[in-house]
Amino acid sequence: MNRKRFWCCIVATVMSIFLVQCIVYIYLFSTASLSFRSIKGVIESQMKIIFPFVRFSRFSNASAIFEKMKPVNLVNCRKLFDGDYIEMNKTYKLLESFKPKSISDIDYINMTKSCDSFLEKRGYIMSSLTSVEEAFPLAFSMLMYKDVYQAERLLRAIYRPQNIYCIHVDRKAARDVKDAMTSIASCFENVFIASQLYDVQWGTLSVLDADLSCIRDLLHKHKSWKYFINLTGQEFPLRTNYELVKILLTYDGANDIMGGNERFVLY
Ligand SMILES: *[C@@H]1O[C@H](CO)[C@@H](O)[C@H](O)[C@H]1NC(C)=O
Ligand SMILES: *[C@@H]1O[C@H](CO)[C@@H](O)[C@H](O)[C@H]1NC(C)=O
Ligand SMILES: *[C@@H]1O[C@H](CO)[C@@H](O)[C@H](O)[C@H]1NC(C)=O
Ligand SMILES: *[C@@H]1O[C@H](CO)[C@@H](O)[C@H](O)[C@H]1NC(C)=O
Repeated sequence: MNRKRFWCCIVATVMSIFLVQCIVYIYLFSTASLSFRSIKGVIESQMKIIFPFVRFSRFSNASAIFEKMKPVNLVNCRKLFDGDYIEMNKTYKLLESFKPKSISDIDYINMTKSCDSFLEKRGYIMSSLTSVEEAFPLAFSMLMYKDVYQAERLLRAIYRPQNIYCIHVDRKAARDVKDAMTSIASCFENVFIASQLYDVQWGTLSVLDADLSCIRDLLHKHKSWKYFINLTGQEFPLRTNYELVKILLTYDGANDIMGGNERFVLY
């Protein structure tokens, strides 16, 4: 693979994956009402909320889970998107009462001692779900330095067995963070920690170093993936894997990487 191909492969994302506050709210609500009682299905139910127009027939009991999502009805997402402060304040208040219990880094290390029970308890999707997705594996990088719980939640949301995931744990990250991510990765054949770790300073070239470190590893490990998507541990998908694949198929090999000098103009 030459360098051009590198650039070719970097990306595609921006229009498909974003961190949108509102979605995080919805997600927090959904986990809150389910947490630890029925972690399984959280992903499905949350997608049901985000994509009410998508049919979820392939998820066995999503509607039953959805029934438990009552708190979501209390939030008007349209208003949140419009930046309505009253609605935001109301949502913040609600959030306080629905905070899901986090899982500590040490707990993750403990939980992943038994991978089977970890995957089951956390509700990972261990099937490609559709043949379209199976034939179109994606590669992801995830840059993170803290909050294993959130990073694991992201991984859980985007995890599919046909894809491949490179996690770049910042070199300055706490020991427990690295250990927890390493033990989580050890439960999957297609999730690994980047072989070269950088001290990433946001907005500097080190971000690219970290992504490139992952891309190099991804190219070495599997050559079958079709597109590369770079993420950070703080993001959350607005599209299902199936939707990503459908979007990327229409790209037909093209990139979605911003080229331009707006940043330089800005500063
Ligand atoms: C669906 O969920 C309901 C309520 O959570 C439960 O009682 C029922 O057994 C579930 N059905 C299946 C097929 O899992
Ligand atoms: C929202 O809450 C903040 C602080 O809690 C307050 O200063 C602000 O006035 C509130 N805004 C509205 C529109 O209620
Ligand atoms: C790990 O889990 C076991 C059993 O679930 C528990 O007894 C032990 O205290 C845990 N260890 C830590 C460090 O949390
Ligand atoms: C992904 O990489 C592109 C190109 O380096 C960059 O513009 C974008 O900000 C990156 N996205 C994330 C989430 O790091």
